[in-house]
Parts: sequence; C-alpha cells; structure tokens
Amino acid sequence: MNIITIDGPSGSGKGTVCHILASKLGWNLLDSGALYRILAYAALQEKVALDNDLQLAELALNLKVAFISNGAGVDTILNGENVGDKLRTEVVAESASKVASIQVVRDALLERQKAFYQEPGLIADGRDMGTVVFPDAPIKVFLDASAEERAQRRFNQLQNKGFDVSIAQILSEIKERDFRDRNRTVAPLKPASDAIEIDSTSLTIDEVVSQVVDLVKLKL
Ligand code: C5P
Repeated sequence: MNIITIDGPSGSGKGTVCHILASKLGWNLLDSGALYRILAYAALQEKVALDNDLQLAELALNLKVAFISNGAGVDTILNGENVGDKLRTEVVAESASKVASIQVVRDALLERQKAFYQEPGLIADGRDMGTVVFPDAPIKVFLDASAEERAQRRFNQLQNKGFDVSIAQILSEIKERDFRDRNRTVAPLKPASDAIEIDSTSLTIDEVVSQVVDLVKLKL
C-alpha cells in the first residue's frame, strides 16, 4: 500500500508538508489531529466530561464528520456545520490532547482513520501514524523541530491573523502539550523504529517536502 506516515509534534511543519505532498502526489490526506480536535470540540459542546472515557468513546464512534475539499483547503463539517476555525483554538487543542490520552477513545477512532486509505495512496499526519495506525507503511517520517522554533512559527501565524499573543505563553503551552503527548502511556509521540527523522528547525517547508519526495523516488 502506498502510505507515507508523517508524525511529529505540533509546529514541526507536518500539516503544511502533508498538504503539499498530498496535492503533489494526488493522494488522499488524513489529518488525524483534526479527528481528536473534532471529538474534543463535540465533547465541549455536548458537555461530556473530558475524563469520562466511555462516553467519549461512544461520542467518537458516532461522530458525523466529513472533510470536504473546497479548492483552497478542506472544510471540516460536523453535524452539518463547518467547524474548521473553531478547532484551532488553544482550548480545543488542549482538550484534544486530553481525550487523545484515553485508550478507548483511540480504539474508537482507529477504523475511521484506516478508512482514509484509498488508491493511489495516503499521506497520514499525526502522532502515532507510523507506530499504531499504519505500522506497515513503506515510508515513515518523524518530523521534529526545537520547541523555541515551533513557538516562533505559531507566534508568527497568530500575529499575522491579528492576535495579540505572548511568545513565552505559546512556548509554555507547546512544552506542556508536548510533555503530555510524549509521556502518555497510550500511543505516545515517538518515532517508529523504522522512521526517518527529519529536524525542520532550520529547514524551509520546500526543503522538507523535497526530502520526502526523494524518499518516495527511492522506495516506491
Ligand atoms: O496535530 P494536532 O495539533 O491537530 O493534534 C491535536 C492533539 O491531538 C495533539 O496534541 C495530540 O494530543 C492529539 N493527537 C494524537 N494522535 C494523533 C493526532 C493528534 O494523540 N494521531
């Protein structure tokens, strides 16, 4: 199966890299973080406690969600509503990281993630794509960058959108979320044993994309 998994922490550039690769290759894209964010958003809306494992798993199994390409990007539709922008807040990110640490929740989302595979191939973006969801993928990448660089990128993004934010605050949120993602007992963020590690701290997006394209030429 033609699958490229790209795992790594937030701000490593993997979202952008995955979008570019999917459109370059004409492959489907799985943004697994969006699924955890949608679940967290739905739980907040429906007032399901973020530590109620079974109710969260049931919510995960029954999510009515669709990703629809709109030319410029992808609209995320939950129960008929376009929730794309609402998923990008810090509250949702933080809540997503909490629900993602629950094993039954991850189990409930597993088949939904696997179902994103379709011919001619799939780019899978997440934390455990290479370790858990697609362990047989022929190309696995672990994309990382220093926490300071990732905070700077997030700061620039938010400033461009007109938000008044503090870089120190962003750095501390990034470090806190990283700690939780890397140290949880279920599906912790870590490179698969057969992953190729790329550090994007001093690379441009194009440089990262071209490294992955080279891997495709070499391996597929
Ligand atoms: O990638 P993104 O920042 O959208 O992911 C939000 C949260 O969802 C992450 O902080 C992580 O805790 C969780 N996640 C996960 N496994 C994935 C993708 C995301 O645990 N495959």
